[in-house]
Amino acid sequence: MVMKKITKALLPLLLSFIYFKLCLCNGDSTFGCREGEKKVLLDFKDGITDPGELLSSWIDEDCCIWYGVQCDNQTGHVIKLDLRNTGSDEVLLSEQALGGEISFSLIGLKHLRYLDLSMNNFLGIRIPTFFGSLGSLRYLNLSNAGFLGPVPHQLGNLSHLHYLDLSDTFVWTSETMFLVGSHWLANLSSLQYLNLDNLNLSRAPNLLKTLNTLPMLSELHLSDCYLHVPHSLSYVNFPYLRILDLSSNNVSSIVPLWLFNLTNLEYLDLSYNLFQGLVPSDVGKLTSLKVLNLTNNGVLEGVPATLGKLCMLERLDLSWNNFNGELIELEEAFSGCIQKSLKILQWTNSGLTSHLPSWFGNLKSLQRLDLSSNSLYGSLPQFQLPSLQELYISANKLNGTIPAHLGKLFPELVVFDLSSNNLVGVLTEAHFNNLSKLEYLYLSTNSFKLVVSSTWIPPLRLKEVHMRDMELGPRFPTWIQKLENITSIDMSNAEIADILPNWFWYFSPNMRHINLSHNNLTGQIPSSFKLLKLDFLDLSYNHLDGALP
Ligand SMILES: *[C@@H]1O[C@H](CO)[C@@H](O)[C@H](O)[C@H]1NC(C)=O
Ligand SMILES: *[C@@H]1O[C@H](CO)[C@@H](O)[C@H](O)[C@H]1NC(C)=O
Ligand SMILES: *[C@@H]1O[C@H](CO)[C@@H](O)[C@H](O)[C@H]1NC(C)=O
Ligand SMILES: *[C@@H]1O[C@H](CO)[C@@H](O)[C@H](O)[C@H]1NC(C)=O
Ligand SMILES: *[C@@H]1O[C@H](CO)[C@@H](O)[C@H](O)[C@H]1NC(C)=O
Ligand SMILES: *[C@@H]1O[C@H](CO)[C@@H](O)[C@H](O)[C@H]1NC(C)=O
Ligand SMILES: *[C@@H]1O[C@H](CO)[C@@H](O)[C@H](O)[C@H]1NC(C)=O
Ligand SMILES: *[C@@H]1O[C@H](CO)[C@@H](O)[C@H](O)[C@H]1NC(C)=O
Ligand SMILES: *[C@@H]1O[C@H](CO)[C@@H](O)[C@H](O)[C@H]1NC(C)=O
Ligand SMILES: *[C@@H]1O[C@H](CO)[C@@H](O)[C@H](O)[C@H]1NC(C)=O
Ligand SMILES: *[C@@H]1O[C@H](CO)[C@@H](O)[C@H](O)[C@H]1NC(C)=O
Ligand SMILES: *[C@@H]1O[C@H](CO)[C@@H](O)[C@H](O)[C@H]1NC(C)=O
Repeated sequence: MVMKKITKALLPLLLSFIYFKLCLCNGDSTFGCREGEKKVLLDFKDGITDPGELLSSWIDEDCCIWYGVQCDNQTGHVIKLDLRNTGSDEVLLSEQALGGEISFSLIGLKHLRYLDLSMNNFLGIRIPTFFGSLGSLRYLNLSNAGFLGPVPHQLGNLSHLHYLDLSDTFVWTSETMFLVGSHWLANLSSLQYLNLDNLNLSRAPNLLKTLNTLPMLSELHLSDCYLHVPHSLSYVNFPYLRILDLSSNNVSSIVPLWLFNLTNLEYLDLSYNLFQGLVPSDVGKLTSLKVLNLTNNGVLEGVPATLGKLCMLERLDLSWNNFNGELIELEEAFSGCIQKSLKILQWTNSGLTSHLPSWFGNLKSLQRLDLSSNSLYGSLPQFQLPSLQELYISANKLNGTIPAHLGKLFPELVVFDLSSNNLVGVLTEAHFNNLSKLEYLYLSTNSFKLVVSSTWIPPLRLKEVHMRDMELGPRFPTWIQKLENITSIDMSNAEIADILPNWFWYFSPNMRHINLSHNNLTGQIPSSFKLLKLDFLDLSYNHLDGALP
């Protein structure tokens, strides 16, 4: 009786124990992998070439702990297969790229949500059409995996897909992956991220119109893909689009106005096209914009005052466009809240012809200002930019002076490049006071004279000092001896007529680049001198004795 009672009480426990054992045996448990899916993975492995032996762990009993495999911890189903080739410091990407054939049996992974085969080398095969049957996929990454030919429209069956990355930057052959029509993309109603960089989309002329029907899209990369950009859309959907990259498509139309209805855009890259009417006043509608890249479109007619309304804009690149306007008239465009937000302004190679307007001094958050390779003239004005770290104005026609107390104007300066201008004047210790963060100083090819005392302490973090064609002599500049971290020095043609001191060969252990040519240096090159890490040394046109070791 008692016995019976106990048995009765234990029975469910006992049963569940037996059930649990059974589960383990069938790979059907809360832990461990399922037998059927393990077989699928082994079939997949059979078709694959694996020179780096990445799949060597695919022998253990439990497939859920195999390299790249992840199972659902509740059901035991394989939900993730991440075979991205990441290479390593020791092994080249190409040496451990998977290749071969992708077994059809993979469709047995009915619960697979995540598949990443990127950076491998399935040399020239097409994306298998049966990938369209992996109906649970949320993430599919076939970027740089060597697939060629048409993208199968069957992928349109993957209605749960959030991420689709088919981009290809390796050019294995002259053939590429391409799309034939785009209607199938309309079925990817959950899609948030699409990357088709470097595909050939010339046979999918309606792509953007199709994508415009996808409600969740937030990131769209369509660079260098022979994209057709429609001039008009009947309505603009894209409610969540934040990132849009249309660069390198050789589009030569007027910038379509519908782009400026994408009011949630944070990143817009139109670089490397031939867009006309680059910055219409509608740009002021893109109030979420953080990055606007318009480099290399040929011509920039003007910059509208509405630009100043972009209160989030941090990076603006207008380079490589022939600018037809007047820089000094842009004060309004660069006033307003852009003054607080803008961190990076690149405007190189654009034929800017004027003196440097004082409105640059209003951009108080600026960290990088690059105006190289224009025709700017005059002096470097006294504007104060408290956050500026990098200032590049090389290869212009600046023909005035530079203000003293640069350290007060630009206390955060790390890179200062004024080389190849016609600047004049005597630079003294006062110019460099308090530039305590300066690491890169390029003043070559100007008409500067440097006059400092032999006890001057230069900005001590300097790594590169280029003062070619400046007047530094006649004494050898002893202050460089204090720069323990210097790696590159160019004091060629600098009117130094002195003995090259012995310490010069030893003072900075990381020296890589030395140019002291075209001076009147005398003295001996010490025989104990080791070239160490040096990869450039020019001592020509001097009167030095001794041989290089
Ligand atoms: C199961 O997976 C979920 C989501 O990956 C995780 O949050 C949870 O901690 C896991 N549970 C166990 C027991 O590992
Ligand atoms: C796809 O893989 C590539 C290369 O491994 C990677 O750079 C990229 O970020 C991945 N795409 C997504 C959407 O995660
Ligand atoms: C599309 O998905 C359904 C259900 O997941 C599946 O039955 C069908 O075979 C798939 N079609 C293609 C072309 O992959
Ligand atoms: C798109 O979805 C519709 C309806 O769900 C379906 O009939 C059609 O076959 C799908 N097209 C493709 C290419 O998957
Ligand atoms: C892109 O595809 C079109 C149409 O198939 C073809 O004429 C063109 O040569 C392709 N361009 C490249 C660079 O592959
Ligand atoms: C763009 O937005 C304006 C309102 O700002 C609206 O009148 C116009 O129809 C929109 N254009 C498109 C193509 O959606
Ligand atoms: C770009 O477009 C121009 C004219 O529209 C054409 O001459 C040129 O060949 C195109 N370049 C490329 C790379 O497609
Ligand atoms: C703009 O795009 C070009 C080309 O892709 C790139 O080199 C440049 O760094 C970008 N500019 C900014 C400010 O990010
Ligand atoms: C600098 O160049 C500008 C433009 O060529 C010229 O008008 C100006 O007189 C020059 N200034 C000096 C100080 O040489
Ligand atoms: C600036 O430099 C001067 C002269 O070298 C020095 O006296 C002063 O303390 C420095 N100020 C700061 C804030 O570093
Ligand atoms: C030189 O470099 C070392 C190592 O990076 C660093 O610890 C040291 O502070 C640097 N010296 C100066 C003066 O910047
Ligand atoms: C350098 O030496 C040459 C002749 O040896 C002399 O003509 C020239 O004036 C000297 N230059 C300097 C800056 O001392």
